[in-house]
Amino acid sequence: MCIQIGSHSLSAPVLVAPMSGVTDRPFRRLARRLGAPLVVTEMIASHAVLRDVREETRKAEIDAEDTPAVVQIAGWDPSVMAEAARMMADRGADAIDINMGCPAKKVVNKYAGSALMRDEVLAGQIMDAVVGAVGLPVTLKMRLGWDADSRNAPELARIAEQSGIRLITVHGRTRCQMYTGSADWTAIRAVVETVSLPVVANGDVVSIETARACLEQSGAHGVMIGRGCYGRPWLPAQIAAALAGAVPPADPDIEERRAILAEHLDAMLVHYGTHAGIRNARKHIGWYTEGLTGSAEFRQRVNNTMDPTVVFAEIDRFFADLGSDNSSGRIAA
Ligand SMILES: Cc1cc2nc3c(=O)[nH]c(=O)nc-3n(C[C@H](O)[C@H](O)[C@H](O)COP(=O)(O)O)c2cc1C
Repeated sequence: MCIQIGSHSLSAPVLVAPMSGVTDRPFRRLARRLGAPLVVTEMIASHAVLRDVREETRKAEIDAEDTPAVVQIAGWDPSVMAEAARMMADRGADAIDINMGCPAKKVVNKYAGSALMRDEVLAGQIMDAVVGAVGLPVTLKMRLGWDADSRNAPELARIAEQSGIRLITVHGRTRCQMYTGSADWTAIRAVVETVSLPVVANGDVVSIETARACLEQSGAHGVMIGRGCYGRPWLPAQIAAALAGAVPPADPDIEERRAILAEHLDAMLVHYGTHAGIRNARKHIGWYTEGLTGSAEFRQRVNNTMDPTVVFAEIDRFFADLGSDNSSGRIAA
């Protein structure tokens, strides 16, 4: 089944997961440019959107070429969620995703995110309200359930289908597992068998091989990749090509990696301004260089400066040194 978001057909059934602090506008633009079929925005707190909190609304700034743009909203009040969805539609979203998977204490304590899986009535009211508020496709992201004794994803999927939800993503862990253990891809099959909607399987997909295994075990129509994209914004395009039966693009060589990292940093500086841009970019710089020769010392130097010129120069020097150590220009995985 080809995954369809409204009038947009994805080139391959590969989505990049919403990740707070990661899938911001610069990251989405970069991953899309490198060939990711779709990147979901960071979760946007519905109450904060209605209060017009700048930090929150800027998460929904969408580039014209970022289509289909799927904006994820979180919250617990159906009318607030509906209003936030309407605002996101006005700002150019092509689809709205409802967060019922976030396990973070500050989210579930307010009865949002994965806490909604414990209250199927409220979850249904939220989905009804959001679907009724916008003329856009509405999707749902959830986990297997709250804990091992309440794996109610199939039941919630049934409610979602009745509400008019158009696609469901399931992270193959319970809320209480947080990010521990491994994602249970086979458990996602129960959702696939309950609804006739497209189901996307999520959790621990980090390569072409794991993407294929996840699809086989879950029977899902597509995969969603989260942490596997850390420092590898080209990975979704590689998986997308492989699943579409094409030859996946090779890993970027050293010079290409340097250029991608520089492009990412530059976009973050433009988006956040120098101070926040440098601070927010540090984790990405760490991920791009993790495990490479001299990366610990490099990161220490980068983390000790707030001067973008120094950071760019350090990046150039780091990759130039790597290149002279490795004449092929390829980095061993
Ligand atoms: C740093 C971080 C931020 C996340 N933020 C969100 C979020 O905003 N909304 C959401 O639904 N899930 C969020 N998640 C969960 C991911 O979307 C995904 O379900 C989870 O990481 C499992 O997929 P993975 O094993 O491919 O990383 C986040 C995960 C991480 C690691």
